[in-house]
Amino acid sequence: MVPLEFLKELPKCEHHLHIEGTLEPELLFKFANRNKITLPNDFPTTVKDLKDKYNFNNLQEFLDLYYVGANVLITEQDFYELTMAYFKRVSKQGLVHAEIFYDPQTHTSRDISLDIVTRGIERACKDAQKQFGVTYKIIMCLLRHTDPKDCSSLIDDAAKYIKDGTISGIGLDSSEKNFPPALFVECYEKAIKLNPDIKLTAHAGEEGPASYVSDALDLLKVHRIDHGVRSADDDALLERLAEEKIMLSICPLSNVKLQVVEKVSQLPLQKFLDYGVPFSINSDDPAYFGGYLLDNYIQLSKEYPQWGFFTWGQIVKNGITHSWIDEKRKEEL
Ligand code: HPA
Ligand code: ZN
Repeated sequence: MVPLEFLKELPKCEHHLHIEGTLEPELLFKFANRNKITLPNDFPTTVKDLKDKYNFNNLQEFLDLYYVGANVLITEQDFYELTMAYFKRVSKQGLVHAEIFYDPQTHTSRDISLDIVTRGIERACKDAQKQFGVTYKIIMCLLRHTDPKDCSSLIDDAAKYIKDGTISGIGLDSSEKNFPPALFVECYEKAIKLNPDIKLTAHAGEEGPASYVSDALDLLKVHRIDHGVRSADDDALLERLAEEKIMLSICPLSNVKLQVVEKVSQLPLQKFLDYGVPFSINSDDPAYFGGYLLDNYIQLSKEYPQWGFFTWGQIVKNGITHSWIDEKRKEEL
């Protein structure tokens, strides 16, 4: 097993991080008080009781709590503080570059404007770049459980940010089963029309089948797949991912918390390595899943003790290579 110091020092890129999923209970109650938000009657009232609720049988059980939690985010300052808290914590863990998801529909559905949300997150990213020397990209996710027409309207509303590069990428998240990539073809096409350089990704093959991964590639033209663990069910797909160098953004602790697998050691990561499928290691919704970026690395190092310095170096290098940053920054890292 490689030493902890080695894992800490690795120049880590995070590609799968929902900023709303970094809302720690302490911050949640702080924002609820500050914004005079009444939480539901059955919502826990202490940090401990809330943390005790973080036992999920599946993705949907988590999402149900995650969307209630997000209701306390109201002002630009809330989004700023939320994002800054993430960078402050993870820059100490060896983070060098973060590609951050946000879910505007979770907020616009409560009449919080896209501008408030985007500006708060972007301002924190810029300050974090100055304070911690990290780089960042912002990825706007479409909520796949909503009407694709709403997702399409969101793309229209975000046109200025897509054109000027404030939003570097488009993603697709929320409940996966029964919401296949095919529903969102027009949204993705619209984003490409607005900015031909836009980067594209989608959650696929977390709870959904391997065919959702192929569909995301074929229909949505994504450059990356979020999760994608179910790709391991289809050897031809693995060959394709390796051949086309499609990176999977893997979230080990998330997969255990949401019962995609029982233990991190059951993830098909060795199979991905053997096939040459690139993947990165990520924290997904760290406030809810029991660990931030380095904690995910540590858990893997425990459960894949056969991985030595070379394998870890390769994984981290893949993360840099497949980050949506320019060649100059890649060289620096
Ligand atoms: N999967 C799908 N949607 C999400 C997740 C996730 O892990 N986290 C936040 N939204
Ligand atoms: Zn996710």
